[in-house]
Amino acid sequence: MKRALALLMCCAAAGCGQNMETQPKYFEYEPAPLFRDGRVLQAPVAGTVARGDLARAAQAAQKPPLSAELLDRGHEEFDVFCSPCHGRLGDGNGIVVQRGMPRPHSFHEDRLRQAPDQHFFDAMTAGYGAMYSHAARVQPQDRWAIIAYVRALQLSQHATLDDVPAAEQERLRAAATP
Ligand code: HEC
Repeated sequence: MKRALALLMCCAAAGCGQNMETQPKYFEYEPAPLFRDGRVLQAPVAGTVARGDLARAAQAAQKPPLSAELLDRGHEEFDVFCSPCHGRLGDGNGIVVQRGMPRPHSFHEDRLRQAPDQHFFDAMTAGYGAMYSHAARVQPQDRWAIIAYVRALQLSQHATLDDVPAAEQERLRAAATP
């Protein structure tokens, strides 16, 4: 009995004669008479909140306090997501730029040294000119971590001997004198 049923189902399935590739379906930007506005892509119902949006908005609004862990995280994320174009020093000379991507301004220019953190945050979130958005790749708290690290990079390129602890100053002076 079971065998007969399985045979019957096989015949029914084969009889359909349509495989997954040819099944009728809508593509994103095609017109769709099924919907009142005639579009395949339907806007979310007013007031819809996607899962995780509220948590992400809270993280975006709350800059975390500076800590060594935050800098470490920012270092890691910067090297992964930003350095291919901006270079590991943030000078805009990453490997992708060397292969033809437009060169971004160096983070060590005065304008970007003085730019508020929000400028960096917004560039990552929304993209900036030729640079695509990183919102889907870098979570808001990691965007803040990256900014903390960019600030450290900026400091590193404009540091003087006075910024170094006294003991280190001695060591550096000794190393510098031949
Ligand atoms: C694929 C290459 C690429 C990657 C990856 C990239 N950027 Fe950019 N970024 C650019 C380019 C190119 C520009 C300049 C765009 C323009 O002016 O049209 C830019 C511009 C910017 C600016 C605005 C600079 C200004 O002149 O005001 C900021 C800030 C920035 N990027 C930060 C970041 C950070 C932080 C990351 C990592 C999360 C990142 N970018 C990843 C290519 C990239």
